[in-house]
Amino acid sequence: MNQRLPDGLVLRTGRPDDLDQIAALLTARGEAADAVDHRLVVEDADAGWQSCAVVLDGERVVSTATLLDETLILGGVPIPAGQVELVATDREYEGRGLVRALMRWAHDRSAARGQLAQVMIGISYFYRQFGYEYAIALPRTRAMRAVPAPGADFSVRTAGPGDIPAMADLQSETQRAYDLRMPHSAACWRWLVARDGSSQLLVERAGVPVATGRLTALDDDEVVLGEIAAADPGAAHALVAHAASRVGSAVLKVQGRPGGPGGDALESCLEPPPRQAARYYIRVPDVTALLEHLRPVLSARLAASDLAGASGEAVVSFFRHHVRMSYTDGAVGKVRPGGVMQSPGAAGGAGVAPDLAGSLLFGPYGIAGLAEHHPDVYPGRNETLMRTLFPPVRADLLTLYLP
Ligand SMILES: CC(C)(COP(=O)(O)OP(=O)(O)OC[C@H]1O[C@@H](n2cnc3c(N)ncnc32)[C@H](O)[C@@H]1OP(=O)(O)O)[C@@H](O)C(=O)NCCC(=O)NCCS
Repeated sequence: MNQRLPDGLVLRTGRPDDLDQIAALLTARGEAADAVDHRLVVEDADAGWQSCAVVLDGERVVSTATLLDETLILGGVPIPAGQVELVATDREYEGRGLVRALMRWAHDRSAARGQLAQVMIGISYFYRQFGYEYAIALPRTRAMRAVPAPGADFSVRTAGPGDIPAMADLQSETQRAYDLRMPHSAACWRWLVARDGSSQLLVERAGVPVATGRLTALDDDEVVLGEIAAADPGAAHALVAHAASRVGSAVLKVQGRPGGPGGDALESCLEPPPRQAARYYIRVPDVTALLEHLRPVLSARLAASDLAGASGEAVVSFFRHHVRMSYTDGAVGKVRPGGVMQSPGAAGGAGVAPDLAGSLLFGPYGIAGLAEHHPDVYPGRNETLMRTLFPPVRADLLTLYLP
């Protein structure tokens, strides 16, 4: 795959002989740890070099991006997704559309892999330009009010590859409390125990794993403990106390994860989160396809509601196009696409701006909350139906980089 760009530049899939140049570029524009992450990804059997693309000026690598395979799970339904990471352009080549071209490559690759959404963490605003919206709640990094006292019967150590199943189980148990979750992929777990940018901690009681978390590099001024998954409050306290003992003169900050037994126990140790919105970016390239994929979720919502015995048609207009979904006895039928529909209210339908489709399906507000803030989102006269189909979503995503 060689794609010609202006000025004789070429975009193509990465190759092993690009490794050193990509490492140098990622280090120059980010951190040395990013180069380690990149090597782990491209040399992994699941991801491989196909997941990375570069832009070349002659032999010189001047821009790069990598697409990771992810799985979002909403109401128990897996949604294949992609995540773009490890993005950088050589300073001399900035502002020439190279990342725009790489994002197009990533989105084409993502679509070809059957992925129905792309999620990412990234610099402010930039990715909106490529169809992303800020939609999914992310954990807040918070200063500590007090370090909890560790119980005597816990031991804490840095986890290795052999601990992956225990850590994955703890995370999976914690994520059960959320409507939308994204676990670490099997490949990502391998990278997490091998990377430089963070280390995995494991708390054991009588040899049984009871908590895990991730600590960012200890040589930074500010060290963050995130992805805390604990079986009980004592295990969570032991984890945080151990992290505090490791950071030396650096400031320890903690990402709260309320909702689980461990996360709730830490709330009293943490300062309130900053009053600044924080969201993962999400891109929904084809909302009709995503809704079709999510029919089991929509059906389960209807079946669990007062509308379980009702039948009718749900019309949702994204203005440039719309969808119709028949429902009967708690089951939503095939999603039927249609064209421009400016006034869905006339058809008893809801209106949703297309650039808020990700917020509608994955965000914390649901259609009713979005309608309070956006004039171009409204549930229409079938408000109960729309609130039932599109409720607020509590999310917990695990990503290679801590948000
Ligand atoms: C951010 C970065 C990746 C942009 O790369 P780039 O190749 O210059 O990006 P592009 O030229 O493709 O940008 C696409 C558009 O966004 C604009 N743009 C560039 N940098 C921007 C920024 N920081 N914020 C907003 N818009 C920006 C470009 O002018 C271009 O606009 P146009 O399409 O209307 O002409 C690059 O500056 C970089 O490597 N920065 C340091 C590392 C980094 O921040 N990586 C991203 C981590 S998420």
